[in-house]
Amino acid sequence: FGDRCLAGFKVVVSAGPTYEDIDPVRFIGNRSSGQMGFAVAAAAVAAGAEVTLVAGPVSLATPAGLHRRVDVRSAAQMHAAVLEAATHADVYIGAAAVGDYRPQEVSAQKLKKRDGGELVLHLDENPDILASLSAQTAHPFLVGFAAETHDVATYAQGKLRHKGLDMIAANQVGGGLGFEAADNALTLYWADGSVELPRVAKTELARQLIARVAERYRATRA
Ligand code: C5P
Repeated sequence: FGDRCLAGFKVVVSAGPTYEDIDPVRFIGNRSSGQMGFAVAAAAVAAGAEVTLVAGPVSLATPAGLHRRVDVRSAAQMHAAVLEAATHADVYIGAAAVGDYRPQEVSAQKLKKRDGGELVLHLDENPDILASLSAQTAHPFLVGFAAETHDVATYAQGKLRHKGLDMIAANQVGGGLGFEAADNALTLYWADGSVELPRVAKTELARQLIARVAERYRATRA
């Protein structure tokens, strides 16, 4: 299959952080830059796929040749956009850093300082996008990401099973790798195997990831 390993495939990729609004000027976010997800989307285009990119708030140019880009802000919006786009997809790659919690209420007015008193925010858990997809009877080949600060292999393999994924791409956060860095290193896990992709530019890493996704798809679904 070589360079065009995803020709004829419909692929959905999520990328970037989510922002959970607290009031009109504040939000809860995270440090995802979206670079890895955008590189994955570009690599899928290069491999011949029809690619829909669901992007959280990032400042990145749309990769050339994309079928569709959907910009969202919150985890709930990303959940809805991905589920809609993934209905007819062959592969979903969840590279977004989705916020786990959102404020129970979004204040219509800017919250005021409380002069020494504490401020309590009540948070509700967001739905898990990957788990929602894997719960559906017919669902795309599911690839998750696991950014961990410690015990990477254990947590990644746990997420592979709990979320019902076909593959998980795990990376250690810290030491100049992961968020906001141009390079990354990944270990891919699937039910009965794994492979290490050593440190390299995210664009090249994305190309290697896409080749492995195509390989595993053919091994399990074709
Ligand atoms: O459990 P954790 O958030 O570390 O898992 C990361 C993986 O799960 C990523 O692929 C991320 O896109 C996905 N995820 C999701 N929906 C959530 C939270 C995370 O699909 N609400």
